[in-house]
Amino acid sequence: MTGVGIDAIEIRTGKLKLDLAETFAAEMGDAPEKYTKGLGLHASSFPDTYEDIVTMGANAAHRLMERKGLGLDDIGRIDVATESAFDHSKPVSTYIGGCLEQVFEGDLHHANKGERKFACVSGTQSVDDAYNWIEAGRNRGRAALVIATDTALYARDDPGEATQGAGAVAMLIDEDPDLVELSKAQGYGSADETDFLKPQQQFPSVDGKRSVKVYLARMREALVDYERAGGEIHPDDFRLGPFHTPFPGMVRKAAVLAYRHITRDTEIEDELAAEIGRQPRPEGFDDDEAYMDALSEYTDALKETDRYKSWYDRTIDPTLDISRHVGNWYTGSVHVARIAGIKALAEADEDAVGEQLLVGSYGSGAQAEIHVETLQEGWRGEIEALDIDEQLEARYDLTFGEYEEVHDAHNFDEESSVEEFTVPDGEFAFDGWGRMGERKYRYVE
Ligand code: HMG
Repeated sequence: MTGVGIDAIEIRTGKLKLDLAETFAAEMGDAPEKYTKGLGLHASSFPDTYEDIVTMGANAAHRLMERKGLGLDDIGRIDVATESAFDHSKPVSTYIGGCLEQVFEGDLHHANKGERKFACVSGTQSVDDAYNWIEAGRNRGRAALVIATDTALYARDDPGEATQGAGAVAMLIDEDPDLVELSKAQGYGSADETDFLKPQQQFPSVDGKRSVKVYLARMREALVDYERAGGEIHPDDFRLGPFHTPFPGMVRKAAVLAYRHITRDTEIEDELAAEIGRQPRPEGFDDDEAYMDALSEYTDALKETDRYKSWYDRTIDPTLDISRHVGNWYTGSVHVARIAGIKALAEADEDAVGEQLLVGSYGSGAQAEIHVETLQEGWRGEIEALDIDEQLEARYDLTFGEYEEVHDAHNFDEESSVEEFTVPDGEFAFDGWGRMGERKYRYVE
């Protein structure tokens, strides 16, 4: 068997948009720069009233399967990663499977379906499950469909409100992939944390400032564990570093810490020594506090070096290009970052076959995972087939009043009669409730 990885990918944004600088900032009494510069976010995507995690996931999967010329018999497994599920028993993958059965010949009765939960990292965990299923030889020549789909809403007036978003990423995991091959080596950083959780509630309880610290701590652990697993990390070995992106400012904070870690004891540290000194080591200090102060001083200086800035601009910044305009998609977020980075390589007409990506996934609660991906021969065709620019351009731009109505429409505890803002066209749409409280869907021609 050749390698296993992502053969194809599709992305589906919610069809509504909230402009953070133009529409949201003034209502919050904030400077627009808090969003555009501080958090690094310009807009959020929201689902229209007939969209939800099922329609966005099914629409992404449908387009992917049509584009790859696949039928239902080619799919042996559907794993959905989400933290916005509306049912404690029946998985979202059954609803999405039902949608796909409306538009393709045959059925998906032979396909193993499930749902994964671990906050945002479950999208990557589902990719792992599919990878392991294929590596174990249980797939009988079939591929797995992994769908990361979320409506990432916070309670109104929560500090996280500006980071909301909604969309789905569908990935086809298969042997001999066209897009990227996945490394066997992986690193984990996992601990019992209470930074972001939803105990029997739709919107999260969040300790925002703490969640930032936990993200950084677990990501660092995962890097160290990846190195323990035999993975070599030198900054110049990676063309892109897609990270989980709750908002681009978070990745900006993580990137400099990651760079500091992976340049330690390298020629880069030596070369930078004349300009900013060497990295502080704990043995050079009497106490932890003095060491931490020195470390943070070094990191501030590192961030200002040309060497770091050019690494950041080349490796990290391109991965944030979509996220800036859609917000946090939770389980889909790191997969959006991967797409954005690779799309930038295609736009720059780079010859990137064989180039490596250092991928950092994260989920609150909390767990980080690091692995490496290698771009395959077919990468350019896969990325150029995406229509994300057209989707973003076509979004309906909400006024603040409309945003409030849309938030209510997707709030499980609110009665809402708000009309749809766009017209469904060649896509799955929510079609009302069934007799047992199930949600129903239909394909609108
Ligand atoms: P906040 O209180 O709204 O914002 O909360 P702030 O006051 O900290 O400002 C944000 C940044 O804007 C700061 O930058 C300000 O300085 C800057 P920083 O100092 O941190 O670099 N700023 C400005 N910059 C330029 N011009 C201005 C200006 N004003 C301010 N005028 C917070 C921010 C992240 C806490 C909030 O958005 C939040 O709670 N978000 C939700 C939680 C979250 O996203 N955490 C991230 C890590 S956890 C994670 O990634 C997991 C997650 O995806 C869930 C899952 O796994 O399922 C969330």
